[in-house]
Amino acid sequence: MQDFTGKLAVITGGASGVGRSLAFALGAEGARVLIADVDERGLENTKADLVDKGVDAHSQRCDVSRQQSLDALAATAFDDLGGAHLVFANAGISAGEAGNLWEYSSQDWQWTFNVNFWGVIHSINAFMPRLVAQGEEAHLAITGSGNGAFIVYPDQPVYTATKAAIQAVTEALHIQTRNQDSPVKIHALFPGPHIVDTGIFNSDRVRPSEFEKPEGSPETGINSAEDLRKLMEFMGQKLVTTHPDEVAQTAIRGIRDGQFWIAPLNPGIKDMVRARFDSILERSELPIPTLG
Ligand SMILES: NC(=O)c1ccc[n+]([C@@H]2O[C@H](COP(=O)([O-])OP(=O)(O)OC[C@H]3O[C@@H](n4cnc5c(N)ncnc54)[C@H](O)[C@@H]3O)[C@@H](O)[C@H]2O)c1
Repeated sequence: MQDFTGKLAVITGGASGVGRSLAFALGAEGARVLIADVDERGLENTKADLVDKGVDAHSQRCDVSRQQSLDALAATAFDDLGGAHLVFANAGISAGEAGNLWEYSSQDWQWTFNVNFWGVIHSINAFMPRLVAQGEEAHLAITGSGNGAFIVYPDQPVYTATKAAIQAVTEALHIQTRNQDSPVKIHALFPGPHIVDTGIFNSDRVRPSEFEKPEGSPETGINSAEDLRKLMEFMGQKLVTTHPDEVAQTAIRGIRDGQFWIAPLNPGIKDMVRARFDSILERSELPIPTLG
């Protein structure tokens, strides 16, 4: 797809970060956008900003951890807005993991899997049948993470496990649709090439009360990219970040170029991926991936 004019782009997690930037970038390309999020205030603010820029913008509260919520979003897109040609399964959270893996609360595991894993499954189940039935070229981009898809950061095993799981799903979906010569193209979108400065460090702002961290859980003390920058500086390392607008431009280019892997990799990640696969092939000790 080269021309996005008039096409409807549905974006989960559209109120903030990568999703918000995607909405602006696609709107600037002439697409109509339907942004969906649990953060109702963020959703309204983003929609108002999009409308200010002249974008034909719609919003709907949607909790990706619930299938009915995604079904309702797909119904809006197809029954009320004439069908969708771009779908971004993008909503994601980080539960702020700290301490030993065996001490993590089930609330952290469940909330993260509900959003990052089940959110993608629910999006696929709600949108794929309608996209296939539409019979026209359409694109489904699933936001993954190199942390899980390519390497395993030992400090974030819950998040990593969700992103490893959806990578398997994304690859299988891509191969199944490609083998059927489906008009629906699948993309694995990896925000980067560096840590993207978004709201993900403060996902607790949308944490449901039923998954609240138990009293006394260890804290990371990191609620923003700035906090991480300070911590890394303290350890003598430099944090380089990417702006989410850059991710949106990379995503648009990747869709236009028909790429499955929309994955700008920095040299450090490439080295870590090679070291990981060497360790698998040689059955040598695992290297320890670092953020620096
Ligand atoms: N920031 C990074 O460095 C980075 C790197 C790799 C991958 N990612 C992925 O990018 C995606 C977007 O995250 P971001 O970095 O823009 O963070 P963000 O916090 O700025 O945006 C995520 C959005 O998802 C929404 N959300 C959370 N739970 C939801 C739910 N149950 N239903 C619907 N919406 C929900 C949030 O309200 C928020 O608006 C995520 O999948 C994340 O894992 C981010």
